[in-house]
Amino acid sequence: MIKFVTSNRNKFQEVKYLMEAARIDVEWHEMKYEEIQADTTEEISRDSCAKIAGGLDSRFFLEDTGLYIDPLNGFPGPYSSYVQRTIGNKGILRLLHNNGRDAAFLTVISYWNGKEIVQFSGELRGKISYTERGNNGFGYDPIFIPDGYEKSLAEMTVPEKNAISHRSIAVLKFIDYLRKEDE
Ligand code: IMP
Repeated sequence: MIKFVTSNRNKFQEVKYLMEAARIDVEWHEMKYEEIQADTTEEISRDSCAKIAGGLDSRFFLEDTGLYIDPLNGFPGPYSSYVQRTIGNKGILRLLHNNGRDAAFLTVISYWNGKEIVQFSGELRGKISYTERGNNGFGYDPIFIPDGYEKSLAEMTVPEKNAISHRSIAVLKFIDYLRKEDE
């Protein structure tokens, strides 16, 4: 069994779907934790993991995700959570006006195996839409259209999002690692 530390039900649902398919038993450790403000998603993810490592007696992982918008020089990136809470998707659409729309999601998983932290990352490139679209998913999903698709992530089901997402790319790397670790 492995614990996924997150307060986000949607993240847990997406990850559980992938891990169950790989026959890995994952338990939701529902917990809010303070994130440092740092320049990269990797650093934030690692710092959160290191802080929790002392307090949990089993192996666990967590993840941090950022939305990096090219015409805004990567903003909000490591500030994605704050920006979603403050200006939200409507604010991002206002900021972009008629600028370019290229963007990427980056997820970094940090896994504490009892001795050290190991990280796995996944990226999904796409475009910011002109309006919010769809009711599924969470966060920036309604304004993100993956490259090669017409639908926003919020117009996709969990299996559809999982077939391409930043999070699932990172999780599949992690699953691979866990398989080797258990050999
Ligand atoms: P965090 O990883 O929970 O800190 O996420 C940062 C911000 O990005 C939060 O506002 C999340 O709602 C949002 N976010 C994280 N993952 C996704 C995703 O897969 N789709 C859309 N928004 C996301």
